[in-house]
Amino acid sequence: MSGPTDLVLAGPRPLRGTVRVPGDKGISHRALLFGALAEGRSHVAGLAGGDDVRRTRRAVRALGVRVTGSGTTATVTGLGVDGLTEPAGVIDCGNSGTSMRLLAGLLAGRPFLTVLTGDASLVTRPMGRVADPLRAMGAHVDGRAEGTLAPLVIRGGALAGTTQSLAVASAQVKTAIVLAGLQAEGITRVTEPAPSRDHTERMLAALDAPVRRIDERAVEVTRGAPRPFELTVPGDPSSAAFWVVAATVTPGSEVTVEDVCLNPTRIGFVDVLCRMGAEITVEHRGEVLGEPVGSLHVTAAPLHATVVQGAEIPWVIDEIPALAVAAAFAEGVTEIRDAAELRVKESDRIATITAMLAAFGVASEAVVDGLVVRGGRPVAGRVESHGDHRIAMAAAVAAGAIEGETTIGDWRSTATSYPEFSADLALLTGGAA
Ligand code: S3P
Repeated sequence: MSGPTDLVLAGPRPLRGTVRVPGDKGISHRALLFGALAEGRSHVAGLAGGDDVRRTRRAVRALGVRVTGSGTTATVTGLGVDGLTEPAGVIDCGNSGTSMRLLAGLLAGRPFLTVLTGDASLVTRPMGRVADPLRAMGAHVDGRAEGTLAPLVIRGGALAGTTQSLAVASAQVKTAIVLAGLQAEGITRVTEPAPSRDHTERMLAALDAPVRRIDERAVEVTRGAPRPFELTVPGDPSSAAFWVVAATVTPGSEVTVEDVCLNPTRIGFVDVLCRMGAEITVEHRGEVLGEPVGSLHVTAAPLHATVVQGAEIPWVIDEIPALAVAAAFAEGVTEIRDAAELRVKESDRIATITAMLAAFGVASEAVVDGLVVRGGRPVAGRVESHGDHRIAMAAAVAAGAIEGETTIGDWRSTATSYPEFSADLALLTGGAA
């Protein structure tokens, strides 16, 4: 039986053709926030159209910044950081951890009160990792569970630069501290245990803000602001990863994903898949605001197991649901280690990935910091998304590669990052949406 929010897919259906994925979510959030910080008008095209980025757009408006345009475009008329004003109501970040953590950093230096909340998933995700460093800089941050869970209440003010050493590699936390550091007196330094994605450093440096990389794990920032800019956001590699895995595991497929962000901290999944035997060509075409852009060309190929661990994890963290599907089709036992962060994403992804694989009849085992997947022959079944967009899309990739009919429960969760996913799937498989 299937319900109104389910998606039913029957395979196998080879994928053929060219696709453009929605604009990168991380770059989209940053573009809206950096535009709000700049003095003057910034034009952004190609924004991610999903709910997460819409939340940041609304939040920027709630802070008194003029944002015109809709959907994938925005013109942000920033008045500089001092132009931000106290919002009249609570800011609802929905499912978006990036909105909440980045806004927390931006608001830490503002002399007014803001309340940030989110949906049932976001209010369970750890916020102490962002609240603690912002407190150390002088902001008042409170929240449920002694300030470790949203709703968060932020009363910002005068900040002092500090040196912060993060316990986990997190681009969201790093960015929050950088946004606070741009408003702080003195020098702010952040060091991570392993390099996380570096969009903030690349974009702010390209926009002449005083942000300097000390080495690949450390960044330094002083008071200042980015200049206004024009940007067409490149495609999201995390969305592209689903087509790359789908084309790899579905016999007879050949797909090109165009205009994708090829930032090395984001395309770690390409290295992992190539190590497993995938046939992927990466073509660099140019650069926007310090971000390399190009295309990924993929043809179907048999896969074998691999181990993903250590410093590679932060570079593939959002792609692990898709990589787990690749592992399910690979020969041998794939291990994903050092990835405890998966437990605090949009769902506990160690649990939801192993449940998804079990629904496809694939044996896998959850371990404390990752999972072990015994590759084999997935079979059709019923899979729950658990409200997690990437679990839903990973399941669709597996479903499209095998015989029979698979039902994916709560498909609506894909609206978080890729509302057009089923339409693009239909396009690539030559079927109806
Ligand atoms: C993001 C950073 C990562 C990632 C998230 C987006 C960002 O989170 O999982 O989807 O845009 O900075 P963490 O910073 O928690 O690792």
